[in-house]
Amino acid sequence: MFPNTRMRRLRENGVLRDMVCETRLDMRDLIHPLFLVEGEKVENPVASMPGVSQLSIDRAVAECEAVLEMGIRAVILFGVPREKDEKGAVALREDGVVQQGIRALKTRFRDDLMVITDVCLCEFTTHGHCGILCCDRVDNDATLLQLARMAESHAQAGVDVVAPSDMMDGRIGAIRRHLDEAGFPRTPILSYAAKYASAFYGPFRDAADSAPKFGDRRGYQMNPPNAREAMREIELDVEEGADIVMVKPALAYLDVIRRARDRFDLPLAAYNVSGEYAMVKASAKAGVIDGDRVMMEMLTSIKRAGAQLILTYFGKDVARVMGSS
Ligand code: PBG
Repeated sequence: MFPNTRMRRLRENGVLRDMVCETRLDMRDLIHPLFLVEGEKVENPVASMPGVSQLSIDRAVAECEAVLEMGIRAVILFGVPREKDEKGAVALREDGVVQQGIRALKTRFRDDLMVITDVCLCEFTTHGHCGILCCDRVDNDATLLQLARMAESHAQAGVDVVAPSDMMDGRIGAIRRHLDEAGFPRTPILSYAAKYASAFYGPFRDAADSAPKFGDRRGYQMNPPNAREAMREIELDVEEGADIVMVKPALAYLDVIRRARDRFDLPLAAYNVSGEYAMVKASAKAGVIDGDRVMMEMLTSIKRAGAQLILTYFGKDVARVMGSS
């Protein structure tokens, strides 16, 4: 009790504050997203996400060289193909942009860089939904095999980890079985287990050209008010064979991250999504906030809530801030 206890004693000095710091962000926590496009020497800036560009494979290799230098050791690849179709068949092609990207990155960086791929059809379908349609609805069971084949094609190309983000029921089990049968029992699955139908994905859909052409994703992604349901989603994915589980988005769902951390012993990831990034960049540019400090505070809160891996577009900014402090 006061005056014996004075909380301010440990706050007076910077070194002391640092010594009693409970949560430390580390470059090794971060996974850096890349948007791959066809062609060469292509670098298309994404208007709503300053600092983020769609990259051709040669440019993605250069980007990985740069981020490795900064201490980022993992990337997640999204494909933005020129050609799309009803069923997203392009997503399975051996010469697809993601498959080529995996090969280029693994050849160049070997085990120094973990290459993760997003497994979802929305970037590859003409309608922009995450699965195969049947009468304007996404047909859950018909989509499973397509996703499993997509994951297999990534494994064939040498990917380190596959990350299904579609939110179909049963996809983790379907992908696990398919990978095992295809000879890839050692490829881990990072499941977007609790993924909400969120307005925070807006800028990503520009970056990945993956907005649904009709309707929305509420028929398969989770309803934002629900947290207990997220525990069920995660539990099912764990039973189906997920190796790492993820909560997405991160900031409006810190309570879900905390619950998941307390309840499950698997490694836990969180996706600091495009809208969370874009809001900070836009308001910093408008002079409303200190972008670097807000960024560090946000990322630290995600880690404090219990996520040990963070997918974020801020990787290079974090490296700059940590390098100068
Ligand atoms: C693909 C996918 C999305 C994101 C990651 N994978 C978009 C969506 O579900 O609409 C969003 C990532 C972000 O906003 O940064 N399904």
